[in-house]
Amino acid sequence: MTDKPRIILDCDPGIDDAFAIVTAARWAEVVAITTVSGNVSLDKTTANALRLRSLIGSNFPVHAGAHEPLEAAPLSAGHVHGECGLGGLDLPHSPEKPDSSDAVEFLVETTRKEEGLHLVPIGPLTNIALALQVDPDLSKRVSSITFMGGSAGGLGNVTAAAEFNIYADPEAAQVVLHSGSPVTMIGLNLTHQVQVGTKETETCHSIDTPVGSAMAYLLDFYADFYRSHLGTDTGSMHDPCAVLAVTHPELFTFEKRYVTVEVKGQHTRGMTLVDERGAGSDSEPNCRVAYSINPEKAVSLIMQAVAEV
Ligand code: RIB
Ligand code: CA
Repeated sequence: MTDKPRIILDCDPGIDDAFAIVTAARWAEVVAITTVSGNVSLDKTTANALRLRSLIGSNFPVHAGAHEPLEAAPLSAGHVHGECGLGGLDLPHSPEKPDSSDAVEFLVETTRKEEGLHLVPIGPLTNIALALQVDPDLSKRVSSITFMGGSAGGLGNVTAAAEFNIYADPEAAQVVLHSGSPVTMIGLNLTHQVQVGTKETETCHSIDTPVGSAMAYLLDFYADFYRSHLGTDTGSMHDPCAVLAVTHPELFTFEKRYVTVEVKGQHTRGMTLVDERGAGSDSEPNCRVAYSINPEKAVSLIMQAVAEV
């Protein structure tokens, strides 16, 4: 029995989700992966999770979840991750099927059988919200719900105010944030501190394994996006930051804050409003918000995971 934290990774692979899966496989005990519609449709995020599981030679279960948000129309980030979700990566399709098509039931039942798990959602929060609606006591059984999404300070990427995972399903994010769960938010304010570029692509290329080659390809594809769409030489490595917040919390600083989601605003729907008033706030904190990270160490751990997984 290792002392690695035991996690369920809820994801929408997704290029940075792929790095999060590799990071989790190296630094955590992955109890299972659950998939959700997000970057691309559920059938594609699920197929990608199965392909990535085969690539890294793992055998954790994969359970498919929600094919659409609670209320919003499904969104896509194909322009970032490619139409298939992994930039057209030439990975053999896994002959395996998901272990179930009911990730929500799996989340409820597994957290009943084993208390103390960390749920690490790195896509829209639809599955987590549905599980909390089925069984609100899930909030008391988990060690954390550590999600990549939102932002302190009003940063957005899909709109000026909203980050993709929250914008894709604001109602789900609101359920999770107000569930009484031990929630930690890894927002854009944090993940923008963790940048990858040519150096990391070359590092992955130098790791002469199928995983190294695949991750180098994904970084190359991601570079095309941020160079052409953002005009930058590097891109944020969002999703692995949520995994590292569980496996290496010493790299981060966190503050307890009241966080709520704008679900109605004409210009701000999907914004995570973080109350920075401190003692002046009239709301009890409901979330641990990440504010800083040691970016060099974070990138080094992600690259080490690519080499060693
Ligand atoms: O805003 C970044 C998030 O949206 C990441 O989880 C990325 O995979 C996309 O889902
Ligand atoms: Ca994601």
